[in-house]
Amino acid sequence: MDNSASSYRINYICLTAAMGGLLFGFDTAVISGAINLVKSQFSLNSMLEGWLVSSGLVGCIIGVFMTGFLSDKIGRKKTMLLAGFMFFLSGIGCSFAPSMTLLITARIIGGIGVGMASVVSPMYIAEFAPADKRGKMIAYYQLAITVGILLAYFSNALLISVSQNNFENAVLVWFLKEETWRAMFLAMSIPSFIFLVMIVKVPESPRWLVFVDKREKAKEILNSIRSPVQAAKELGDIEHAAIKSFSKKMFLFDKTIRLPLIIGIVLAVLQQFSGINAIIYYGPSIFKTAGIASSNALLFQVIIGAVNLLFTFVAIYSADKYGRKFLLITGLSGIIFSLIFCGYLFYVSHTHTLLLLFLIILFIACFAFSLGPVTWILINEMFPTAVRVKAVSICTLALWIAVWIVGQFFPWLLEKEGAAVTFWIF
Ligand code: BGC
Repeated sequence: MDNSASSYRINYICLTAAMGGLLFGFDTAVISGAINLVKSQFSLNSMLEGWLVSSGLVGCIIGVFMTGFLSDKIGRKKTMLLAGFMFFLSGIGCSFAPSMTLLITARIIGGIGVGMASVVSPMYIAEFAPADKRGKMIAYYQLAITVGILLAYFSNALLISVSQNNFENAVLVWFLKEETWRAMFLAMSIPSFIFLVMIVKVPESPRWLVFVDKREKAKEILNSIRSPVQAAKELGDIEHAAIKSFSKKMFLFDKTIRLPLIIGIVLAVLQQFSGINAIIYYGPSIFKTAGIASSNALLFQVIIGAVNLLFTFVAIYSADKYGRKFLLITGLSGIIFSLIFCGYLFYVSHTHTLLLLFLIILFIACFAFSLGPVTWILINEMFPTAVRVKAVSICTLALWIAVWIVGQFFPWLLEKEGAAVTFWIF
């Protein structure tokens, strides 16, 4: 296969797998628009409201565990298909749920999809991409998360504006006007369906195929995406790595795995403890605390989503050129600077300025080209195939537990200690 055709095909395959990130972003963001509508319809108390939001996270944890053994057993491709199916089922299930119990069950199923996709999609990309483009291609996954978040905002906003119209048809009145949240959840089935159709066409990961002794199939796939010389070399490298890890009987807690495992867990937890999701999802309430009108606050949320998406391109273009460490050091410097300064503005009650918005945008931009993508890149490229799924699952599990901790404690921290201390803790 000539170079440009193979690079086009690799891009296509990796972008398709990255769509798992889009579903992840969509699923986690859609609830922010739907929650108030569900809350008033089912008269939820704060316990049930919290459970509706965190049920998705419970699903994620189950999904990460399942992927830990499934993707070694049935392969990366089938695991991605299963994740896509879970998203699809959850979108349909949430939108037609007749009771809170079924709504929560459907959210858990969606969460399982998120958990599975968050392990298998970037891992598949890491196994598929050529080494010199691996950073760029795993960053596609981060890009897809940001697209998913923005799409959910837009689809929620669009459905809210559609709900202002009058409809003749009783079903439309029920679905689009009286219980608009149902349409919000159903919207997720569209990208899930597209993902399912596209995943059917991608090949299995050659690394996994060698790992399960299907050398000929791996060779065939490599020949279809690399030049003959590259394909032969890569097959040799993969086999060599497989023999090495088998002969050493590599285990998860081997000395050589310990350091990357610690790095992966720490990065995953710190990614979340930077407060990224608090700013993305509670952005409007932070701006309200700062005295900014709520109509503007929502506009700022869209600006945040767009900056998050755009700055991911910096990582796409420079992760392989300048290295992961360079991106992390520059990005983290900006993140620390903006968090300290934001805290200071709240501390001296000087928040009615554009400076606050600028600092928050700086924070998001720095996250988007460093801690966001680099965490996913490193987690997925550091481990040998023999222990990859288990190690990636452990790091991703740490990430989801950290998501839960921030979600649980951020509103409480903001209320109890105020915004200044909250920013400084982050
Ligand atoms: C994080 C998500 C976050 C997203 C924001 C990802 O890298 O894992 O928790 O919502 O970035 O873009």
